[in-house]
Amino acid sequence: MLRYNEGYKVSQILYKAFCKYYNSVQALQIIIDRWDVKYMTNNDTNAMKKKILELKEQRDAVIVAHNYQVDDVQEIADLVGDSYALSKFCAQNQHKVIVFCGVHFMAESAKILSPEKTVLLPEIDAGCPMADMVTAETIREYKKKYPEAKVVCYINSSAEVKAESDVCCTSSNAINIVKSIPDKDIIFVPDKNLGAFVAKEVPEKNIILWPGFCPTHHRITKEEVLKVKGLHPDALLLVHPECRPEVVELADYAGSTKQIIDFANNNSAQKMVIGTEVGVLHKLRKDNPEKTFYLLSQGLTCPNMKKTTLESVLISLRDMKYQIELNEEIRIKARTCLDRMLQMGG
Ligand code: 13P
Ligand code: SF4
Repeated sequence: MLRYNEGYKVSQILYKAFCKYYNSVQALQIIIDRWDVKYMTNNDTNAMKKKILELKEQRDAVIVAHNYQVDDVQEIADLVGDSYALSKFCAQNQHKVIVFCGVHFMAESAKILSPEKTVLLPEIDAGCPMADMVTAETIREYKKKYPEAKVVCYINSSAEVKAESDVCCTSSNAINIVKSIPDKDIIFVPDKNLGAFVAKEVPEKNIILWPGFCPTHHRITKEEVLKVKGLHPDALLLVHPECRPEVVELADYAGSTKQIIDFANNNSAQKMVIGTEVGVLHKLRKDNPEKTFYLLSQGLTCPNMKKTTLESVLISLRDMKYQIELNEEIRIKARTCLDRMLQMGG
């Protein structure tokens, strides 16, 4: 007979073997799905777009895409925008299905706001490493340490984290949200860079930063910026507040992806260096064919945002996957946090 320890070891081995098998089956399914789509559309982009539009009608679906999505996905979306615009749209639209071309926390936010709708995330593994840098449990510990403080969470966070927070914010409204909270002490999670940006603009508050960051934006260094500025001395520098404070310090403008696009569209400058994810260049160049845009760094690609393709959107609509599901108790609490942000506005 097996002793307890041996039994435990055997069960671990069987469990790992099952996980490997399950992952292999899933991976194989993804390969088969992609082949199927290529076969169905003859690998033709226009045929894929046509099929997506057909399925969209059949399903009564709306497709929303973040500004960091690949060009083809932006082209078929009904709305392309920043986190704030997309969450506002998802709270209000009348369709039965929302296909969210973005990362997990965005689709989750859409589900929090519209529980009666089917919310699909075309790529189940499209996550946000920064959102994973904070958990509900660690927030509870911080709240014990700072009982007087209010918790403001960046929308780049899980439903569980939102459920533990007082109010949500995006990069476009973080300053205004923090300003409108009457309390002095604010725990800001999870982005230390956005938190530092807010702290500088709202010095009357005591902002307790969380050590999270976006790996894509945080990698830009001051030295890199100075080098690019030297190469393009007549260009304006526009950056996202997820960049390090010393990078934001050197910029002519810092804002959300939509705010960067609006700034570039409305400014007479002909040359601009862009310090955010490469996806924004699509709209910038489309809206301003006469202007020149340089990407601040070649590393400005979010691998998770780039997972979604036309194929995955088509498969998502065809098979109605991957559906976002939430625990109702968490969802209701997280909704209060998001609703407060939407009521406070931009
Ligand atoms: P915004 O579109 O709100 O600027 O968001 C940036 C971002 O990194 C989303 O993950
Ligand atoms: Fe997350 Fe950064 Fe990617 Fe945005 S760009 S989804 S913050 S990893």
